[in-house]
Amino acid sequence: MRKIVAVVGVMLAIVVLLTHATAKAQGPVYIGSDSCALCHGAKHESSQQTWHVRILRPASEETIAGDFTSTDADLTFTVDEVAYVVGGQFSERYLTEVEGELYVLPAQWNVASDEWVPYHPEDWLDRPYARYCAGCHTTGFDAESETWSEVGVQCEACHGPGSDHVALAGERAMIINPALLDFQAQTEVCGQCHSRGTDPEGVYEFPLDFQPGGALKLDDAFIAATDEEHFWPDGSSRAHHQEYLDWQKSPHAAGVSCIFCHVSHSHGETAHQTRWVGNHRCLICHEEKRDLETHVPYMQTQTAFCTDCHMPTLAEAATAEYNFDIHSHTFWDPDPVGTMRYGGQDAMPNACNLCHTDQTPEWAAQVLGLEVAPLTPIPTATPALPPTPAPTAIPVPTVAPSESPGLGEIPWTWLGAAVVIIAAVMAVILIQRRREEVTR
Ligand code: HEC
Ligand code: HEC
Ligand code: HEC
Ligand code: HEC
Ligand code: HEC
Ligand code: HEC
Ligand code: HEC
Ligand code: HEC
Repeated sequence: MRKIVAVVGVMLAIVVLLTHATAKAQGPVYIGSDSCALCHGAKHESSQQTWHVRILRPASEETIAGDFTSTDADLTFTVDEVAYVVGGQFSERYLTEVEGELYVLPAQWNVASDEWVPYHPEDWLDRPYARYCAGCHTTGFDAESETWSEVGVQCEACHGPGSDHVALAGERAMIINPALLDFQAQTEVCGQCHSRGTDPEGVYEFPLDFQPGGALKLDDAFIAATDEEHFWPDGSSRAHHQEYLDWQKSPHAAGVSCIFCHVSHSHGETAHQTRWVGNHRCLICHEEKRDLETHVPYMQTQTAFCTDCHMPTLAEAATAEYNFDIHSHTFWDPDPVGTMRYGGQDAMPNACNLCHTDQTPEWAAQVLGLEVAPLTPIPTATPALPPTPAPTAIPVPTVAPSESPGLGEIPWTWLGAAVVIIAAVMAVILIQRRREEVTR
């Protein structure tokens, strides 16, 4: 009995020491969301409701939504070629393996319109998934081996590698909590993926080696795009995954971060992980705009949403007739005069005419009492990104912290306590026996 206790004790000590030593030698490494689930079970479970964890999944009957029985000429491959499915909310793209590397197959399935559209049919074999996409759809991407620790946007994509935190049984100092980072670093946690551009060498379409709260700043790891294919002439986004670039140009860049409006561990209150519902999401800070009869007197309806005019769907995830499914994040006022200047609604859409399609931008400008003439067309070069303003001290209500892991969520704490108590009791018994032996 004494021997077993001693052996188990020594083994435990070795394991703890070894994990410490390796962690210290290499810095923390990615260990996967399953290990987080051990102690943060509730967060792990609710996270499964998010599209973050589902963006990249192995192909199966459950994950493939596209209609492979279709006779559409754009569908040039069979379901058997599909190894992974990317997405499923707006669209699905499919990965196949060619000579040991993953590539994106040349047709995409648009979910809302139930149809196939071509996706880089000419050059798809020049665009390996590991260079063009992987960094934003996986967790712990390693450029050297072009592999990743986990598919999907999992815990460590936002919290950084977690091995030290786990080895030290949940030591807070060993893990990044985005809510405790400074404002700039906090939005970079989301900006690392909700952006468009390349690494400084121009090889990868995502930042390399960026870690939440790490020493490498996003501006040094990523060169943001500004091209006409992905931006409207006024500089706002016309393509998806650019929310961070929009937001940087918005009034909210001065003090309202992504995580004020969005939750991270569940689907939240609306389709897109928002913390609150409807106009409350804005009125919580813009109380003075509650009375829409004063704010938008020309609209007889009281059901208008702030987002209809200040976050119109100007960007596109899925192509074809369901153009524009992604909300603008510049939060700018509708600008029909800009539409007139840049050459009409197709060249530069404004929110008013997205709904009032039977009216002209001139009409909208008049309703708003905006100065219309004289107009000089301005060149359609995308304006350069203004420097990120230094965060000013705007009084912003703090995010109500979500529940921190209660004791119930952390069985290890109890387990540890149990081990210590059992060991102590055994030690006492052993010492007692020893004494008895000695006195005998
Ligand atoms: C052995 C149990 C355990 C495991 C495994 C674990 N944690 Fe924790 N975690 C804790 C404890 C305990 C706390 C501190 C709770 C407190 O003080 O309120 C914590 C706190 C945190 C915090 C908040 C830190 C802060 O400063 O506010 C984050 C973020 C976190 N864990 C993320 C993770 C991630 C990501 C993983 C997986 C890589 C993980 N945890 C695995 C036990 C664990
Ligand atoms: C810089 C990061 C980044 C890169 C690179 C990237 N994506 Fe994405 N992707 C995102 C984000 C973020 C979204 C969510 C949409 C949004 O934020 O507007 C997304 C959404 C998608 C969707 C729609 C998901 C759904 O559920 O409908 C598909 C499909 C997709 N990406 C495929 C790709 C493919 C294929 C590539 C490479 C050719 C790629 N992405 C490159 C970040 C990226
Ligand atoms: C998309 C980014 C993202 C992902 C993925 C993510 N988190 Fe978080 N996490 C955050 C942010 C941001 C906070 C700060 C509080 C908040 O906004 O909810 C946070 C806070 C926490 C906290 C501190 C307690 C609290 O609620 O404030 C813990 C613990 C935690 N996360 C664990 C996890 C675990 C475990 C996973 C994986 C199952 C995970 N997180 C996945 C972004 C993320
Ligand atoms: C590792 C890359 C990555 C990081 C980091 C990341 N995201 Fe995402 N995010 C994505 C991808 C990819 C999608 C698309 C998922 C889909 O639609 O299938 C997405 C989707 C979303 C959505 C839409 C969810 C829905 O249901 O439509 C929101 C909102 C969002 N992210 C907010 C955030 C916020 C806030 C942060 C920072 C706390 C963050 N993301 C960090 C890659 C990332
Ligand atoms: C002032 C609040 C606010 C801020 C700040 C904010 N968002 Fe959003 N976001 C929203 C709202 C509202 C929606 C639309 C949700 C809906 O109507 O379902 C949205 C939608 C999204 C979506 C879903 C795709 C789409 O556009 O439809 C993504 C992804 C997203 N936001 C990412 C981000 C990221 C990344 C940041 C920070 C750079 C950010 N958001 C900052 C309020 C905000
Ligand atoms: C956390 C508080 C907060 C939330 C939530 C919030 N805002 Fe703001 N908003 C601000 C601050 C702060 C400013 C900057 C005010 C300034 O510069 O004077 C601002 C500026 C604006 C402006 C520009 C005002 C101007 O003077 O040019 C618009 C438009 C706007 N917000 C719309 C929205 C919409 C729409 C929502 C909801 C989707 C929203 N805001 C949610 C705090 C918030
Ligand atoms: C029908 C379209 C429409 C709706 C709906 C709408 N707005 Fe506006 N908003 C505008 C226009 C146009 C302007 C610029 C002209 C003006 O100031 O009235 C503006 C200006 C603003 C400004 C800046 C005002 C300033 O002082 O410069 C804020 C902040 C704002 N809106 C917030 C909101 C909020 C919050 C909601 C929802 C409760 C909302 N808006 C709903 C069209 C709209
Ligand atoms: C989300 C869609 C939507 C957006 C965005 C929108 N409207 Fe409306 N608007 C409506 C609806 C619906 C009505 C009510 C129609 C009715 O009752 O006849 C309306 C009514 C009106 C009316 C009175 C009825 C009419 O046709 O003469 C005016 C004027 C008007 N809107 C102007 C604007 C302006 C200017 C903007 C941009 C600042 C705008 N709207 C943005 C949907 C929208």
